[in-house]
Amino acid sequence: DDLERLADDVRRADTVVALTGAGISAPSGVATFRGDDGVWDRFDEGQFAYGRFQRDPEGFWADRIELQRVLFDGEIEPNAAHEALAAMGRAGDLEAICTQNTDGLHGAAADRIAAGGDGKPDADDTTILELHGNAQRVRCQDCGRRSDSEPIFERAADGELPPTCDCGGVFKPDVVLFGQQLPGAVIQRARSLARESDVFLAIGSSLVVEPAASLPRLAASSGATVGVVNLESTPCDDLADLVFREDVTSVLPRLRDLVAE
Ligand code: OAD
Repeated sequence: DDLERLADDVRRADTVVALTGAGISAPSGVATFRGDDGVWDRFDEGQFAYGRFQRDPEGFWADRIELQRVLFDGEIEPNAAHEALAAMGRAGDLEAICTQNTDGLHGAAADRIAAGGDGKPDADDTTILELHGNAQRVRCQDCGRRSDSEPIFERAADGELPPTCDCGGVFKPDVVLFGQQLPGAVIQRARSLARESDVFLAIGSSLVVEPAASLPRLAASSGATVGVVNLESTPCDDLADLVFREDVTSVLPRLRDLVAE
């Protein structure tokens, strides 16, 4: 079947690259942006734009506390799909994960897999490129210091709006906001990975937000086998060689098992 064909391609490939979106974290209880009950039904993208942060850091932070609650409701943990990708990485079957997610769950899954093995980080482990940053961290806009977001969000919730660094600078969630460019080195790396890939998997993303949305097309035009895993149709289904309209937690563990056979 199609999954066996994909597994064969993965086994034969030198370079396999995954692009993930909010759908891979949905089974972990993380809200998606679009679709049923999506975050952008409840909030306006403009509330979280970089221009708003600069103009009105107090209002931005007040709204961001709400968004953080909606996105990461309680303790979130990697699910079977994150773990399957981490296991494929550990086995040398996955070169890189380019993720649009800011939840840190790919890193958490890699840590889990490493802890279950010899506990040592593996130099050959999958590269995780967080295209949109990581919401578990904040960054001072003056001195550049990064720190864990949880205590900072607590201070903000207690009324420190906007929360500031010891140096006096304002903290910003360490994520790419609307109106901000992705760091040049990060998107360049993602583009070259897409071009180098023999198999490119677009997993749980609506594939409408640039520049990530162009990566599958770039991979396809460089000759990669492109697979899409999504419960709904995407703008890349037409160019994909294989489309799995299924849950990520059903497809990826099966793929990992087939590749490992
Ligand atoms: P979206 O919310 O746009 O899309 C999530 C996709 O996952 C949808 O196409 C769903 O059909 C699919 N999906 C949901 N649950 C799934 C499941 N269990 N199995 C398979 N598919 C599932 O999320 P992204 O594409 O990641 O940007 O959104 C891209 C960017 O838009 C985000 O990074 C964010 C947002 O605005 C920034 O914050 C800069």
